[in-house]
Amino acid sequence: MSVAAQSIALRDGLPVWNAELDDELVCVAVRDETPDVRSFTFAPRTPARFHYLPGQFLTFDVPVDGGSVNRCYTIASTPTRPDRISITVKRQAGGVVSPWLHEHVRPGVSLRAVGPMGDFSFVAAPAEAYLFLSGGSGITPLMSMARAHHDLAPETDIVFVHFARTPADIVFRNELASMMQMMPNLRVITVCEADAPGERWGGPRGRVSAAMLALLVPDLALRMVFDCGPAVFMAAVRTALGALDFDMSRYHEESFDFGTITEAPAPAEPTAPTATGFAVSFSKSGRSIAVGADQFVLTAARSAGMRLPSSCTKGMCGTCKSRLISGQVDMQHQGGIRQREIDQGMILICCSRPLSDLVIER
Ligand SMILES: Cc1cc2nc3c(=O)[nH]c(=O)nc-3n(C[C@H](O)[C@H](O)[C@H](O)COP(=O)(O)OP(=O)(O)OC[C@H]3O[C@@H](n4cnc5c(N)ncnc54)[C@H](O)[C@@H]3O)c2cc1C
Ligand code: FES
Repeated sequence: MSVAAQSIALRDGLPVWNAELDDELVCVAVRDETPDVRSFTFAPRTPARFHYLPGQFLTFDVPVDGGSVNRCYTIASTPTRPDRISITVKRQAGGVVSPWLHEHVRPGVSLRAVGPMGDFSFVAAPAEAYLFLSGGSGITPLMSMARAHHDLAPETDIVFVHFARTPADIVFRNELASMMQMMPNLRVITVCEADAPGERWGGPRGRVSAAMLALLVPDLALRMVFDCGPAVFMAAVRTALGALDFDMSRYHEESFDFGTITEAPAPAEPTAPTATGFAVSFSKSGRSIAVGADQFVLTAARSAGMRLPSSCTKGMCGTCKSRLISGQVDMQHQGGIRQREIDQGMILICCSRPLSDLVIER
């Protein structure tokens, strides 16, 4: 038996990777995608297989400056290849975590992560035909979805329109080109804003607009749309779709970009617990803490040394979504939770203040 066959046989029957049991992921490969975008492939520290939906993300705990900073990264790989996961990270100039990842993560380096999380996936919204729209590094969840279709349903009708600054910034360029050869109904269209120093762009140019979408995807109305990118890009997509009278019940989006979303103010972070407080217990960890009436549950739990999944801390990303087993909270979220989830007893602990003693499933 070949080494590969042996290793596949050995991996049969492995448990699903569970961050509650062992949250360390070991980097096994690094690949440059563009001058400022790099992919990192990870394996579980203890043998396991990854189970997630295409489009979901992990929240990484990154050890920056002696502390720990959380950031979400989409699993860009496909769950159809469950022994490894990869994330693809754009280096944000002046950012805290992405430059650190580019500089420090090499094969052998371990990082802690929780997840998978998120509901930006075609699995929740199956359709006959899709339009994937991405701007810059927002391509990652769409790439996971495209890779999953490549492996499981290569005949699926997908138009994948990706917006990049220049041809040198097109992430997954070669892989998408080869996928098009394997998938008869996949059409990849890349739109660039400008030429690269060494390459004149011969394809469509410009920024997303109603006229451009109507031209590139004439049967847009028949498609289920998945959109990811910077907040300004997605705002432009929504405006364009609105101008085209697109049925927005067929529109799904995920933003990577908390900083520039300004539709609603972030909830004010209380500075200190008040004299009146409540007992908050966590059913899985067995921990119990006191939370001031003006404190967010996540803030108090962090101060008490608890490590809970979180990212934006503004009620936007859904990373901290937890089941409220008993008690009442005042939750001021910014779209990170759906009404039906609230009706089912879920809360975002980063933007929830207690109104009574609480029991939370964590
Ligand atoms: C669900 C989800 C999935 C994601 N998936 C991906 C992915 O697949 N790939 C990917 O690359 N990213 C992804 N992101 C984004 C990622 O989580 C980080 O936000 C991103 O890498 C930037 O983090 P950073 O720490 O490097 O930058 P940050 O430190 O958060 O800074 C971001 C930018 O803001 C600027 N900035 C920071 N502080 C200030 C300030 N006080 N005033 C003005 N400007 C400031 C920085 O210069 C930088 O340009 C995802 C985000 C979410 C929510
Ligand atoms: S941490 Fe993002 S919604 Fe709570």
